[in-house]
Amino acid sequence: MTWFYDPLRSYEDNYAHGPFGAWAADAVAGSPVQASSRDTDHTFLGRPVHRPFGIPAGPLVNAAFCAAAFAHGVDIAVYKTVRTRAHASHPFPNCLAVTTEGPLNPDRLDTLVAGSDLNRARSISNSFGVPSRDPDEWQPDMARAVAAAGPGQVLVGSFQGTGRGSGEDAYVADHVRAAELCVEAGAPILEMNLSCPNEGTGNLLCFDTALVARIAAAVKEAVGDVPVVLKLAHFASQPALEEFLAATAPIVDGYGAINTVPARLVDSTGAAALPGAGREIAGVCGEAILPAAIAMVRRIARWRSDAGADVSIIGVGGVMSLTDVAAHVAAGADAVMSATGAMVDPELGRRVADASWPV
Ligand SMILES: Cc1cc2nc3c(=O)[nH]c(=O)nc-3n(C[C@H](O)[C@H](O)[C@H](O)COP(=O)(O)O)c2cc1C
Repeated sequence: MTWFYDPLRSYEDNYAHGPFGAWAADAVAGSPVQASSRDTDHTFLGRPVHRPFGIPAGPLVNAAFCAAAFAHGVDIAVYKTVRTRAHASHPFPNCLAVTTEGPLNPDRLDTLVAGSDLNRARSISNSFGVPSRDPDEWQPDMARAVAAAGPGQVLVGSFQGTGRGSGEDAYVADHVRAAELCVEAGAPILEMNLSCPNEGTGNLLCFDTALVARIAAAVKEAVGDVPVVLKLAHFASQPALEEFLAATAPIVDGYGAINTVPARLVDSTGAAALPGAGREIAGVCGEAILPAAIAMVRRIARWRSDAGADVSIIGVGGVMSLTDVAAHVAAGADAVMSATGAMVDPELGRRVADASWPV
């Protein structure tokens, strides 16, 4: 297997020893791509980029991974979501190969067989629990990742709040602190993860419009001109999506859609595939969520056009090939990102970088 993030090793092993496979030799910050033959005619949230294509929050767990991504032609690298305090990962395994019969219907909770034979995997589970180092450790590391970007490349700092149960004021303040810590580390663009299944997949933060609007306003107030993107899950309800967009578009700079699609994961005997309580339902990403992701991008783009809103859309979900990149752009995405597809095919970013844009 040649994946740069190796799902057959623990998160901690990946963090300490990765990246692996084809990227193993490029994990040194400060070895960016050759600047020659790279135009920077495109922009991503006001920054010049060679191609508005990247890897979303997840597989790039630290600066070594981000530097390797930049060296392999990925022009937007999102540093995996950080918190204001250290938080342990769910136990190994985190990514299993998931078998689906065609695309997932995001409005339904499917039961899917998941296993560890990842050799031909096109869709995988994602069950990490959003681990984070302490800021004393991740801040200097994020600064190294920011510095690893070459010409026409940019690093995005992804963050989320911790402590939803400790009262709304404290939860808002924790988001603000996380955003400030990313800005202190030099992140020129921020992404706020609202789609982590912290408290059950039906209770994602992105489905609480009033609270998100309050948090987003406080974060924007604190970070000034630094662009802020909201990372969303699939919305089943069109009125809820429209209400969310109307409330937040005047505050933030863009949306990333989508995060993973939840499913109940079982092994070949029907038992829970992932060990530990609360992990029966996990997020699925990769090929099986492409139509769900494209549909969300299209719905946001249609709303943007109707409302005349000035927000960027990052299309995420199921991008395994240049054709899939083009499908996200056709649906209305200004930038496109691939997590599973880039893990399976570590030269996907290079191929997008070498192609014209839109592909
Ligand atoms: C290994 C892995 C870890 C992830 N961790 C995060 C995370 O920390 N924060 C986040 O917002 N999304 C995370 N995601 C979700 C991705 O950003 C993305 O939304 C999702 O995987 C769908 O894209 P894909 O089909 O290209 O994989 C993770 C995905 C993977 C595969």
